[in-house]
Amino acid sequence: MAGKSLKKGIFITFEGPEGCGKSTQSRLLCDHLKKLGYTCVYTREPGGTECGEQIRRLLLHSDGVAISDLAELFLFEAARSQIVREVIAPVLADKKIVVCDRFSDATLSYQGYGGKLPIAVIKTLDNIATGGLKPDLTILLDIDTATGLKRAKAKGFDRMEKKNIAYHERVRAGYLKLASAEPKRIKTIKVNGTIEKTQILVRQEAGRVIQRYKRAG
Ligand code: TMP
Repeated sequence: MAGKSLKKGIFITFEGPEGCGKSTQSRLLCDHLKKLGYTCVYTREPGGTECGEQIRRLLLHSDGVAISDLAELFLFEAARSQIVREVIAPVLADKKIVVCDRFSDATLSYQGYGGKLPIAVIKTLDNIATGGLKPDLTILLDIDTATGLKRAKAKGFDRMEKKNIAYHERVRAGYLKLASAEPKRIKTIKVNGTIEKTQILVRQEAGRVIQRYKRAG
């Protein structure tokens, strides 16, 4: 059976502070869209390609390796450049759906607001890495910083999660700032109910965007 067709590819990203549950929510959304008959490709950042997964290991799981703030920024952008060309752009060109766990807003929030690197520099670099690609919809799952970090800690902290709480407070504030600057694209959902309740809200937001690009019939 041929899948449901769209007028254009749809790019949906998930963002949020540590422990917000976006990996669970993004996977659930992708599975749901597949059940509805759409072709939906799930991917994540950093990662999603062989090159990106190696960069991910370096960034998150290489204890004792010195990585400067600028090197960290370049590594996230290098992984992004690869995933855009190898995975995201081809799927979108084929008029399918991509669900990506984190994208450019993460760099602005973490390396920009959290790490205090200049926002203008990040925007310029990110624009080169993405070729100007922007999500059609970004779901921001917002959670109180301390609660989120406590949830993340249960799985063991990675290199980014080990940064101090003030850093993570700035990341969260950064995300909220981005959302208020782009309310049409970034939809904020407060994480305070069950996984199922949050997923209903996620599906509503995705449904609205898909409706816009659905082919009749
Ligand atoms: P996650 O899979 O738990 O979201 O892990 C990715 C980590 O990398 C998370 O701590 C956020 C961080 N990150 C950045 O700092 N900048 C970025 O551009 C991206 C994509 C992720």
